[in-house]
Amino acid sequence: MPMFPQVDPTSTSSWRSLLQHREEIQKVQMKDLFANDSSRFNRYSLTLEALLFDYSKNVVVDETMTLLFQLFTSCKVDMAIKAMFSGELINKTENRAVLHTALRDFTSDKLVVDGIDILVDVRRVQRQMKDFCFRLHSGEWKGFSGKPIRYIVNIGIGGSDLGPVMVTEALKPYTISGIKAFFVSNVDATHLAETCKQINAEETLFIIASKTFTTQETMANAHSARQWLLQQGALEKDIARHFVAVSTHEAGVKAFGIAPENMFVFWDWVGGRYSLWSAIGLSIACTIGYENFEQLLHGAHTADCHFAKSPPEKNIPVIMALLGIWYRNFLGCTSEAILPYDQYMHRFPAYFQQGNMESNGKHASRDGKLVSYATGPVVWGEPGTNGQHAFYQLLHQGTDIVPCDFIAPAQSHNPWGNHHQLLLSNFFAQTEALMLGSAHADSNRVFEGNRPTNSFLLKKITPYSLGMLTALYEHKIFVQGVIWNIFSFDQFGVELGKVLAKNVLKDMEHDEEVTTHDSSTNGLINFWKKMRE
Ligand code: F6P
Repeated sequence: MPMFPQVDPTSTSSWRSLLQHREEIQKVQMKDLFANDSSRFNRYSLTLEALLFDYSKNVVVDETMTLLFQLFTSCKVDMAIKAMFSGELINKTENRAVLHTALRDFTSDKLVVDGIDILVDVRRVQRQMKDFCFRLHSGEWKGFSGKPIRYIVNIGIGGSDLGPVMVTEALKPYTISGIKAFFVSNVDATHLAETCKQINAEETLFIIASKTFTTQETMANAHSARQWLLQQGALEKDIARHFVAVSTHEAGVKAFGIAPENMFVFWDWVGGRYSLWSAIGLSIACTIGYENFEQLLHGAHTADCHFAKSPPEKNIPVIMALLGIWYRNFLGCTSEAILPYDQYMHRFPAYFQQGNMESNGKHASRDGKLVSYATGPVVWGEPGTNGQHAFYQLLHQGTDIVPCDFIAPAQSHNPWGNHHQLLLSNFFAQTEALMLGSAHADSNRVFEGNRPTNSFLLKKITPYSLGMLTALYEHKIFVQGVIWNIFSFDQFGVELGKVLAKNVLKDMEHDEEVTTHDSSTNGLINFWKKMRE
């Protein structure tokens, strides 16, 4: 039995009303809305502590928002939120709870899932991480030649890579002096080879991060890293000082040769793309210090409380989600851009590309039927201002409307001359230009305007504020998944490629001509066989 009712969103009266309302909104110009309502910014913006969320530059009027909030109610999202936070098995296709929020909850005493108080284990692993960071940073933990660790190399892919990279890059100013972090994800040996050129084996710690500990790319890189370490003068007995693992698969870690005391566990109720808050964040804690990692969790918890307790009209992730649905399902937008005006945040769009697309890129509804409406859009982005000189042309004058999120800190970690003002002047000007447009006699020079943006302003990118922002985006994905009536926490779509690659690999391991695939795949494999060294 589903924990919260399944609702086909298209069967609700709010959906039908939104379809009708769409006809009226086609005539609406945001610039007129601003001209006629001096309170629009105040009415269409919210704050959460020092974070401002301005959604006034969207093609919505009060009626749009009212209907969207009605959709939220009709789809029983409030029940779904409660079900998630209380540990119900809402990831039904994998029969799992979804509790990354428990990893950042320092206020609850107990959370029982399947008869077990999971917070006991959560706190135990957090203490293990803290102790490990202390030993690493104090120099007590030494490499095989007796030198302390300076290089952290996280080997993982997807959720076991993107979260740690995104956060470590975004929080670079907090890096512990003397520590340098690297992330190896691609099975292309170039990724590992180029990393090895920049590190010393005797001062390197490899963190093998894999929920399943079976992922082909991660396992191949982990074995090659082990081989490299031995080639650099380490002995078998030294492996324990240079390899630790983060996984839910204890037996797999043991089989690789990593000692149980060097393993950091997490649990199947932590989805891969929601795992940076778990021990998968070990590379983050090793790089910026455990206290800063904990601040990240505290920031996320603030967003969790906001999400769980605020009414929809005051709830930032709910509004983010509803606006996304408005554009996707009613105004036909196929993609969304995330545009951080902060160089350190350069991996934030890639992180949420996986977060959104692996969660909500689904075609089956929770009752197993194919959906009759659009689900998750393509999510992409790059930091401003670089994007302005690359793809903003299409944002301003292209034939597709791409709703954009602009994100920036009010204060820079590098207050150098007037750089930050220059950067933010571009942010503010872009959102204004996208909204206002510009008239011209020559159609090549016309900017239609009326292009929607959300703006997020943070005081500064700190562990706490980044945690908060990241959790807001996570909850947006959740709300959209509930309204689309899909399962957001599995990822069967990536499984087929993995199986096929294994079959193809077998065909590549012998010299005979391959004939068992379609003519294109046979042709590619056989051409490769002729060209390989
Ligand atoms: O690509 C699919 C996926 O399962 C992601 O969901 C996950 O984040 C990634 O692979 C890595 O998986 P693992 O942590 O098990 O190595």
